Amino acid sequence: MSLLLNRSEFGDPSNAGNVLSREAVTQLLQDWVKNERLQVHMKQVAHLMKCWAAEKEGLDEDGQWRWEMAGLLHDADWDQWPEQHCKKIIEELEARNIDAEIIRAIASHGPDHFGVAPVTQMDKMLYAFDELSGLTHAYSLMRPGGYAGMELKGLQKRFKEKGFAATVNREEIRDAMNRAGVELSDIMQFIIERQGAA
Ligand SMILES: [Fe+2]
Ligand SMILES: [Fe+2]
Repeated sequence: MSLLLNRSEFGDPSNAGNVLSREAVTQLLQDWVKNERLQVHMKQVAHLMKCWAAEKEGLDEDGQWRWEMAGLLHDADWDQWPEQHCKKIIEELEARNIDAEIIRAIASHGPDHFGVAPVTQMDKMLYAFDELSGLTHAYSLMRPGGYAGMELKGLQKRFKEKGFAATVNREEIRDAMNRAGVELSDIMQFIIERQGAA
């Protein structure tokens, strides 16, 4: 199965600023995603994206929503059409004339899988948060207190254990950090401090 998108242009630049309302995103997720774990994953990544946009990029509410929306929808087609991930959601957002930058960010959230390199900071941070968010969540589920009292040291240890959350590709995470120009430990700490509130 190849998920390669074999394209490099996404959306129409003239749609800049076009977003879905929160209600429309919720509706789309209800229709497309029955898997609750996947819903949780996208909400968590979306929360991290929103926090990053606000705190690190200094974006206003509209800008934050664009980042959050990319997080909320990045795996929207995985539940029902895994063999068409992320082609299906891209085509849906293109049909709805959504901002090309949001579509591009979704298209580049797995460069090895989709063959699209992350370019903008939104692209890069979506890629950076995706797998590491999942690994951190897996760690929270095995801790009695969940996220409460979670320490960087513990997460770093789990990261090094190949058998822990074995499907999370550590090399992909390292690649994402390099592309985003961020330190793995900084992003781990960022997630530890915010993901529990997602
Ligand atoms: Fe994905
Ligand atoms: Fe994901």
